Amino acid sequence: MFALEIKNLSYSYPDRTPALEEINLKIKARKKTAILGTNGSGKTTLIYHINGIIPAREGSVTVLGLPVCKENLQRVRRAVGLLFDSPDNQMFSTTVSGDIAFGPRNLKLDPVIIDQKVHEAMRKVTIEDLADRPPYCLSLGQKKRAAIAGLLAMEPQILACDEPFSGLDPIVAGQFRDILDQLKVKGATLIYSTHDVNLAYAWADEVVIMKSGRVLAFSGFELLRNEALLQQASLPLPVLAQLFKDRAEKPRTVAEAAKVLDLQPQVRQAKNF
Ligand SMILES: Nc1ncnc2c1ncn2[C@@H]1O[C@H](COP(=O)(O)OP(=O)(O)O)[C@@H](O)[C@H]1O
Ligand SMILES: [Mg+2]
Repeated sequence: MFALEIKNLSYSYPDRTPALEEINLKIKARKKTAILGTNGSGKTTLIYHINGIIPAREGSVTVLGLPVCKENLQRVRRAVGLLFDSPDNQMFSTTVSGDIAFGPRNLKLDPVIIDQKVHEAMRKVTIEDLADRPPYCLSLGQKKRAAIAGLLAMEPQILACDEPFSGLDPIVAGQFRDILDQLKVKGATLIYSTHDVNLAYAWADEVVIMKSGRVLAFSGFELLRNEALLQQASLPLPVLAQLFKDRAEKPRTVAEAAKVLDLQPQVRQAKNF
């Protein structure tokens, strides 16, 4: 079963700037798929099509077998949680807890259940102490946590995250990856955009490489060892792919590389890429 099917999708903004051209993709459920490309390659525009923020005008988008169109929008948005690049785009309430409760309230759930979901979501991202604070006066890391808590409270089957780690410090980014990994273990599908080849090499099952609104290639993370392809996309080779180019071992993280090179235990436990 595919989580997402995109057929012949093209899109130009109202000012006629072309953003997507003839995109065809079938993204597997329960996988972690990175959409990789330089600035302006069309990543955000593509992600906005997944839950219908931008409706498909040319071509089609199908989520879990459901066409993304006006009639299905409510069901599609229950299935797809979208994390905006900037959390300011998705937090409107006067308090963090009010914001997280927004989605479950829209589903008209029982207030006791809503309360449980909100507290559980805040606990998972450790922001219980921020519950009564206004979202606009939080730090970026806190805002991102609050935004992901809002998604967790909805328990979406697909999480589409636009540049989820941009602006986060390494520790918070690592915690955030752990949270997303746990969701994947529970059966969620993760789709995220990034321009970071090292991140995608270490932390994706599948990779979509975009350039000027087109998909250049789509396959397993091994794609990121193809220097010529990455050059075409104006992207560098991941550092570890470069360093281990001529070796049989192909570590994808610093910790794996340290094991291969038999370095100290501290390095072997490194959580960065
Ligand atoms: N609101 C907009 N109006 C006009 N053009 C836009 C708008 N948003 C993005 N674009 C253009 O669409 C193209 C793809 O942009 P985007 O999807 O934001 O790329 P990415 O997320 O990969 O940086 C770029 O050429 C960009 O300038
Ligand atoms: Mg973008």
